[in-house]
Amino acid sequence: MAALSLRSSVLATNIAVTAASTSTSTSTSSIFLKFRSTSAWAISFSVSPLCCRRPRRMAHSIARATLGLTHPNQIERPKISFAAKEVDLVEWKGDILAVGVTEKDMVRDESSKFQNLILQKLDSKLGGLLSEASSEEDFSGKSGQSTVLRLPGLGSKRIGLVGLGSAVSSTTAYRTLGETIAAAAKSAQASSIAVTLASAEGLSLESKLSTASAIATGTVLGIFEDNRFKSESKTPTLKSVEILGLGTGPEIEKKLKYAEDVCSGVIFGKELVNAPANVLTPGVLAEEAKNIASLYSDVLTATILDVEQCKELKMGSYLGVAAASANPPHFIHLCYKPTSGSVKTKLALVGKGLTFDSGGYNIKTGPGCSIEIMKIDMGGAAAVLGAAKAIAQIKPAGVEVHFIVAACENMISGTGMRPGDVITASNGKTIEVNNTDAEGRLTLADALVYACKQGVEKVVDLATLTGACIVALGPSVAGVFTPSDDLAKEVLEAADVSGEKLWRMPIEESYWETMKSGVADMVNTGGRQGGAITAALFLKQFVDEKVQWMHIDMAGPVWSDKKKSATGFGITTLVEWVQKNSS
Ligand code: BES
Ligand code: MN
Ligand code: ZN
Repeated sequence: MAALSLRSSVLATNIAVTAASTSTSTSTSSIFLKFRSTSAWAISFSVSPLCCRRPRRMAHSIARATLGLTHPNQIERPKISFAAKEVDLVEWKGDILAVGVTEKDMVRDESSKFQNLILQKLDSKLGGLLSEASSEEDFSGKSGQSTVLRLPGLGSKRIGLVGLGSAVSSTTAYRTLGETIAAAAKSAQASSIAVTLASAEGLSLESKLSTASAIATGTVLGIFEDNRFKSESKTPTLKSVEILGLGTGPEIEKKLKYAEDVCSGVIFGKELVNAPANVLTPGVLAEEAKNIASLYSDVLTATILDVEQCKELKMGSYLGVAAASANPPHFIHLCYKPTSGSVKTKLALVGKGLTFDSGGYNIKTGPGCSIEIMKIDMGGAAAVLGAAKAIAQIKPAGVEVHFIVAACENMISGTGMRPGDVITASNGKTIEVNNTDAEGRLTLADALVYACKQGVEKVVDLATLTGACIVALGPSVAGVFTPSDDLAKEVLEAADVSGEKLWRMPIEESYWETMKSGVADMVNTGGRQGGAITAALFLKQFVDEKVQWMHIDMAGPVWSDKKKSATGFGITTLVEWVQKNSS
């Protein structure tokens, strides 16, 4: 029996703890806010103790206290334990017994009896009520259909039928099954549920394992609600999920533990993206990264570079973007090394970390410019740090992974970059900034140069880089750009397993023509056409030719308009890819 506990990180707690423990202030009423003056971020501020609930805070906490007094709630999420069992369905005791059924499973004979053996058994125990009630509810097993019935006669209080559609189902279908179960558990305020499939018999061992893991993932992510910024919220009631009929033993336990670790990374990533920009400043993002490193100090180390250190590394492109903000930039570098054994492959994951993108002097204006949602512009960073959290728990062997984020804010002020300015990146290349709103690539330029200096064989960057990519692929599909067919194959295979939607795009070299500058080596923005491709061509200028490189433009899939929430996009695929590179 596998009894696994699933518990999300509590971002609010992390912030509070790190802010209190790393405070550099000298008294309770006077706090140093590192502020941008002409040469450096250093001005001290006095704040009334009434403004903040806790004394001795860091710069980012003050920014938060002065910007609307918003403090994330510290939400304790109950643990959800997962167990894989083989028990008689009719005897199982708990709140909801959920059965995943296909349209074929719902087929009945002339006397309205189910032909599927599991449904037949449940129905006979219920005296024919299951057949009757599911007909009345018009439930035919179509995907998207579900019904929860309160029928007497079983060990379980309720029975839920969830439609899986027609064909043999995919990861996505089983994940949706988990999400549907989570929704049913919420509305019934269930604390214990069991899940099974009407036709699990025919599945191979491999499919049973991946099905169990997809159901667990869907359930955990479905239960998760980010209520940190609401003054009132309900505590989720679900405590235990038993997966029945998909096997028992160490293999399925391991698979469920892996799903648990990935989910904790995904939830952490979602929390980072959902957090508003007045709370999640570049400093707070760096504190979050450091916190992950100290939680898993057996395998992770953290290096955070401040402005002066970035200047020494000549990161003029990144610092140019950061120059207008009152919140100083923080360059984040986490490194994963396995606890034992030799390292065979070295990888780097680079994430765009704009905690807010106003556009700068090329300010985002007009309907559809989405300025009000630009807290999501650190979605690449969230994917990278979410993957770091998951990988630190999974501890793959034989692989070293560098997690890199050049975190900053794209704002407007007298100290900011002007359109037309020429800046110099850390590889010596000069850039004429013809549009301050094409800032992501400027920060990634120095991050990619830094990544390639880590002696890695492969680099994958993730960024909410262009509106053009959303125009090309719509809101749910990320664009993949790489000159390497091998790397494309690896990552796209990982995405097949994770169920995330990635599509390879061309790196059309002839479009570089539009990126030429009269005064510098290049401009940062081409024309309106092929905007996602010219962005990729720009990034390519900062990648070492000996390194295999991929750029993922995730501007669309980072956010769900429907759910008004972050999706956690990229994390599952990245973890799967690192796992493929381990030995
Ligand atoms: N962060 C944006 C891209 C973006 C847009 C992400 C919408 C998510 C949703 C990026 O920094 C940006 O502003 N890109 C510009 C580039 C242009 C100036 C060449 C864009 O896409 O308009
Ligand atoms: Mn921008
Ligand atoms: Zn941006």
